[in-house]
Amino acid sequence: MKILVIGSGGREHALVWKIAQSRLADKIFCAPGNGGIAQQAECVDIKADDIPGLLGFAQKEKIDLTVVGPEAPLSMGIADEFEKNGLKIFGPQEKAARLEASKVFSKEMMVKYGVPTAGYKIFDDPYQARKYLDQKGGPCVVKADGLAQGKGVIVAADAEEAKDAVIAIMQDKIFGDAGDRVIIEDCLHGQEASIIVLTDSKIVIPLASSQDHKRIFDNDTGPNTGGMGAYSPAPLVSRDLLNEILDKVIHPMIAGLNKEGITYKGVLYAGIMVTKDGPQALEFNVRMGDPETQAVLPRIKTDFLELMLAASSGDLSSFARPGGMVWDNRACACVVMASGGYPGNYEKGKEIRGLEKVERLQDVMVFHSATKKSGGKYFTNGGRILGVTGLGNTINEALYRAYQAIDEISFEGAHYRKDIGYRAVEKLSGSGKDGKSEK
Ligand code: AMP
Ligand code: GLY
Repeated sequence: MKILVIGSGGREHALVWKIAQSRLADKIFCAPGNGGIAQQAECVDIKADDIPGLLGFAQKEKIDLTVVGPEAPLSMGIADEFEKNGLKIFGPQEKAARLEASKVFSKEMMVKYGVPTAGYKIFDDPYQARKYLDQKGGPCVVKADGLAQGKGVIVAADAEEAKDAVIAIMQDKIFGDAGDRVIIEDCLHGQEASIIVLTDSKIVIPLASSQDHKRIFDNDTGPNTGGMGAYSPAPLVSRDLLNEILDKVIHPMIAGLNKEGITYKGVLYAGIMVTKDGPQALEFNVRMGDPETQAVLPRIKTDFLELMLAASSGDLSSFARPGGMVWDNRACACVVMASGGYPGNYEKGKEIRGLEKVERLQDVMVFHSATKKSGGKYFTNGGRILGVTGLGNTINEALYRAYQAIDEISFEGAHYRKDIGYRAVEKLSGSGKDGKSEK
């Protein structure tokens, strides 16, 4: 089979790496890919949002399955376009992708179909939004309605900070049209977990739980990033809690989408805050998480390509049977190495040294997020550079492996968090303090 993966980050590298293990995969392309992805796939110079370009390539190469990594092409209707042209694609259609592309739509769906979520109000007028904040006061969360590369949410400590956020989003338009409307939401408290499932719109196959670390610095300080590390499983998510999240969040949303005439096929990702009143949905994404994917896929023993083929064909039943999904029970941890200055300004083109040393390490995978290969050497080419990932019998062992590998890798200005997985370690050692936000 010929497979095309769309995207260029660590998530896509992990997808390509996993697909390469499938007995069904003969040839893998990645558009546009990166230096590390080129180890397992042929990278094609077509941007992830160039839908006509991607369609033309898939037709020319007779691609059997296209796997979409990021949300942008999904929200632009890539799945509709491919399916219209008789091409199989893993990812939901444009209408379904609105669940991520519009936080207002997502919130309205949650409320309509009884998914527990924070109280909120929607504003399209900045003056009204600020007036409301004057009355409301206190900590709250201001969210731009549209896609803002994961940066459109501001958790404000007080009304003044929230009003500044409203001005920045709605008047200064720091996220462009994505800020035409905002949601002002009550602040929830608890620990977060990411629940990622595959669905064919009827059957739900939950993947292992995971948790990511959004802030740039240790102890969850500093600005939000795309994600500085992740680990799986998240010990916070017991079997009972997972079932509760499936019953209260995932199933009602998929049933709701069906009622709205939206057939959802692909990945559904729920960001959950586990509060003292139970799980609450923070957001829905319509694709795998980054870097959660890097910590979850190494734990899946089932052929992930077969799973994606089944979801896109609309029949996941064979994976829902007992034994349909086989897991590696070990823990997995991914630590992101980023460019100095990220998530602000950073330089590119720094040589990455030591990658060949970690190739020899057992149970270590290095997923490339933004690298370029030139003259047999790898260079930095973005903000998040590598997702250094370890598997181990315990989360501590997985973390040890990842950090041991990081010790071998260097590039000028490299920055990484030293405390990835600390909540899991605390929880497992019995010293975890619930009731405090992870991010
Ligand atoms: P979202 O993109 O909606 O998941 O928001 C990004 C991050 O903002 C989440 O991972 C949380 O850390 C935080 N967040 C979002 N909504 C809330 C809320 N209602 N209360 C507290 N934190 C929130
Ligand atoms: N790691 C968070 C996300 O992928 O949205």
